[in-house]
Amino acid sequence: MKGVILAGGLGTRLRPLTLVTNKHLLPVFDRPMIYYPIECLLNAGITEILIVTGGEHAGDFLKLLKNGHDLGVKRLAYAYQEGEGGIADALRLAKDFADGEKICVVLGDNIIEGNIKKAAGDFFTQKSGAKLLLKTVDDPERFGVVRFEGESADQRVAEIIEKPSDPPSNSAVTGIYFYDADVFEMCDGLEPSARGELEITDVNNFYLKRGDLTYETLEGWWTDAGTFESLHRASNLVREGGANHAQMPTGASA
Ligand code: G1P
Repeated sequence: MKGVILAGGLGTRLRPLTLVTNKHLLPVFDRPMIYYPIECLLNAGITEILIVTGGEHAGDFLKLLKNGHDLGVKRLAYAYQEGEGGIADALRLAKDFADGEKICVVLGDNIIEGNIKKAAGDFFTQKSGAKLLLKTVDDPERFGVVRFEGESADQRVAEIIEKPSDPPSNSAVTGIYFYDADVFEMCDGLEPSARGELEITDVNNFYLKRGDLTYETLEGWWTDAGTFESLHRASNLVREGGANHAQMPTGASA
């Protein structure tokens, strides 16, 4: 399985910080944000990684990460997204890199405490389709949210709703997704949402309708880092020692 990190966008919610750099190069405690999704994939045994980015500062990813070998990445590839078409638009650029294989997609501003190794293994043996990682949150209106149906012992995902004003549950869809190679055809068939973007939630609902969507609950803390509040929270969570990034170089000397 290959890994895809989506690290584009204008980062408008973090202006003025993002006027001079890409959001994913901002510090989260002692490392640039992009280190964390890389580490997430490496911890799951995924060592071939594509970073999709865009904008004026795309070249800085190369300066920072080079060929990725220092971080433990075997093959690091880059793709450039023109414009701001959304997550599913950025994902389309990964088609050639995926080359028919299953992929694990991580949003570049998602940071986790734990490990997705088990979920990756489960998806590896899943015949086809997609897998989501869910997490209970206090502020579901900021995320893709699951509406469940059925009794608790036999709960099924009925629908995923993007940033609902009246959330049907507290179960957020994290920005870590597993897809088979059909995902690219699905992205090509999408229509832009009200905010003018191709939404990953529409892709997930396609798989759901096809009866080919599974999910697991993410263990440990999870946060995005795309707003001042969540960026600050991410730094604190990492500082408090939750993140296991022993194998990642800091560049700091004693
Ligand atoms: C995106 C997705 C959303 C998901 C979230 C996770 O939101 O659209 O479904 O819950 O990432 O971080 P965005 O960060 O683009 O607002």
